[in-house]
Amino acid sequence: MILVTGATGNIGTALLKELHAHGAGPLRGLTRDASRVTFPDGVQAVEGDFAEPASLKPALEGVRSMFLVSRLGPDADILEAARQAGVEHVVLVSSITVLTHPHLGPAGENLVVEELLGASGMAWTILRPTQFASNALMWAASVRGHETVRAPYAETALPTIHPADIASVARVALTEPGHRGRAYALTGPEPVSARGQTEAIAAVLGREVPFAEISREEAHAQMAAVFGAEAADAVLDVTGGDVNDELLRVRDTVAQVTGTPARPFRQWASENADAFR
Ligand SMILES: NC(=O)c1ccc[n+]([C@@H]2O[C@H](COP(=O)([O-])OP(=O)(O)OC[C@H]3O[C@@H](n4cnc5c(N)ncnc54)[C@H](OP(=O)(O)O)[C@@H]3O)[C@@H](O)[C@H]2O)c1
Repeated sequence: MILVTGATGNIGTALLKELHAHGAGPLRGLTRDASRVTFPDGVQAVEGDFAEPASLKPALEGVRSMFLVSRLGPDADILEAARQAGVEHVVLVSSITVLTHPHLGPAGENLVVEELLGASGMAWTILRPTQFASNALMWAASVRGHETVRAPYAETALPTIHPADIASVARVALTEPGHRGRAYALTGPEPVSARGQTEAIAAVLGREVPFAEISREEAHAQMAAVFGAEAADAVLDVTGGDVNDELLRVRDTVAQVTGTPARPFRQWASENADAFR
């Protein structure tokens, strides 16, 4: 049995589909509300809340491999619950910032989870993706409303990754030999800026999408109101304020692990056009 956590999220939705399509055996998806989900035929939806590790017991029963989205609860307790349930292999989503910006708070938290997993006694594979293409969904309401997309660091081009590519790497790591004890930095196939992403969305919609660059201060005020000041600073640093060569670098890890090149941002935009219509 493979358990996919974050099963209704950007990666988890694609991962369950891909595991199902590859006939990966019995599959289970974790969600806090099974009444809302539509998983592929035969995939079990099981409720559990990371905030209450004891609630994960039904989801973990009989599980041998697990895809884990972290930092949504007490990770040490969640990993211990998995170990006690007999989980043998955990594929963990961390972040490329553990390599590029280890001094930042969220990166430090990811490093702690990586270390907890490494010390857990379970086999591990760590995925360290860069910024997701799906982050562009934060502009969806503005685009639908024919308003201007407003973002800082308009020209900073990062090798944004399609979440389905993270899912593809996770599927391979969960189902094929040779990926235990490996940590993979994952990027998309080409750098794309916020302005470039907006242009790609405009192209699939077949109309203009106005774009305006805003200052770090303006962006910080908006983000801090939602995530807090420290998280806002961290996001702004890694999206343009303090980028470095390692963060900007395109890597071919997705192709190496899956045998298929990583998907460009314009493909994500095309597949998700309805969210912007
Ligand atoms: N976005 C980026 O640029 C970026 C970059 C690097 C790394 N990451 C990492 O990627 C991960 C996010 O992946 P994603 O985009 O696929 O997720 P997502 O779309 O944000 O979805 C979050 C998922 O987590 C589940 N969830 C939330 N709170 C939960 C809780 N208390 N208990 C159980 N499940 C809970 C949700 O399930 P239900 O609502 O159905 O319960 C949902 O399936 C995070 O670990 C993040 O740190 C993101």
